[in-house]
Amino acid sequence: MAIRKILTEGEATLRKRSKTVTEFNKRLHVLIDDMRDTLNESKGAGLAAPQVGILRSVALVLETNVNEGEEEYIIELINPEIIETDGEQSGVEGCLSFPGVFGMVTRPETVRIRAMDRFGNYFETEGTGLTARAFCHEVEHLNGEVFLTKIEYMVDPEDLKTQDEAEEKGGV
Ligand code: CO
Repeated sequence: MAIRKILTEGEATLRKRSKTVTEFNKRLHVLIDDMRDTLNESKGAGLAAPQVGILRSVALVLETNVNEGEEEYIIELINPEIIETDGEQSGVEGCLSFPGVFGMVTRPETVRIRAMDRFGNYFETEGTGLTARAFCHEVEHLNGEVFLTKIEYMVDPEDLKTQDEAEEKGGV
């Protein structure tokens, strides 16, 4: 397992469409395991293969909606498709490929996904809140789209920091 370099704005790969995965072999498993390490290291909420320079339909999303005492876990999505959405949420969004860029983005509140696991078995899963936001964001990466066009207005990372600190102290 290894940490891979995350491509940032200016890299053409970020604007290219990924290919469907058809071989569920060792090579794919190494890519997924490396992406898991890279996501853990970067402390992000999701990562798509084009962000590490691989145009294959592979994405990871961190499931943060867990019960108290349970650990957050990574959902592995191969060839994911959004099959249903519901509701709406507006929130601050960032991207590991655009360090320091944060903006307000509106997304569905609930997103249902159909994907394959690393062995090629289909499954469906549903995410809400941050998980739903990350599902949309990662599927866009696989289509060669980045979140910049979805930003309604930019948010200053400094304001964000202040808000986080305020929230840690029990609300703004
Ligand atoms: Co991103």
